[in-house]
Amino acid sequence: MSITENNPAARTVASTQSEMTEIVLPNDTNTLGNLLGGRLMHFIDLTGAMAAYRHSRTYIVTAAMDHIDFIQPVNLGDLVTLKSSVNRAFTSSMEVGVKVWAEHTRTGVHCHVASAYLVFVAIDEKGHPVRVPQLILETADERRRHADASLRREHREAESARRKEGRIAAAALESAAESNPRTV
Ligand SMILES: CC(C)(COP(=O)(O)OP(=O)(O)OC[C@H]1O[C@@H](n2cnc3c(N)ncnc32)[C@H](O)[C@@H]1OP(=O)(O)O)[C@@H](O)C(=O)NCCC(=O)NCCS
Repeated sequence: MSITENNPAARTVASTQSEMTEIVLPNDTNTLGNLLGGRLMHFIDLTGAMAAYRHSRTYIVTAAMDHIDFIQPVNLGDLVTLKSSVNRAFTSSMEVGVKVWAEHTRTGVHCHVASAYLVFVAIDEKGHPVRVPQLILETADERRRHADASLRREHREAESARRKEGRIAAAALESAAESNPRTV
């Protein structure tokens, strides 16, 4: 990667904090009247992107979405609130955490229903990665999330290398089968 300099200034985690609230409509639900997982992932992606935009102030793409816990179902008519912030800025990538709550409109009872981590990469108009600002950590929670993001990145990279090895092995088998169909 050749990183394009973007002359970034450091930004606080607080300046990246983003929030979105949606009402769950019939089109968003499955046959049991619960919010579809894919629809919730879409909301998570959008709310995560808001934090990444606020940090990088560039174009961004979602590079990865990992570790989503769907803790509780969300029902038709509930309000869904999603909150996001950047956990860690690497070189061109940022890990963003998103937390989701559902609120029953008539009782006001609300509960935590999902959490997710996403990686966004800052890019220029040609799609080349660009450097992002460093993150200013102000609270103990921010420092904890920052440290944890590094561990998740290591885990993500190990998983990615493992999948790549699997693809190479599968391609080798396929090519062996094509060149010598009787022996495979
Ligand atoms: C993400 C993308 C820009 C990376 O481009 P690339 O030329 O492969 O860049 P590099 O390999 O040099 O990686 C650039 C950064 O992305 C990160 N990255 C790349 N692939 C990643 C992945 N699958 N998961 C997490 N991070 C990833 C790298 O760790 C690196 O981070 P760093 O600069 O902070 O160290 C490119 O793969 C892409 O455009 N993918 C498609 C994205 C997309 O269409 N998303 C859905 C719609 S928004």
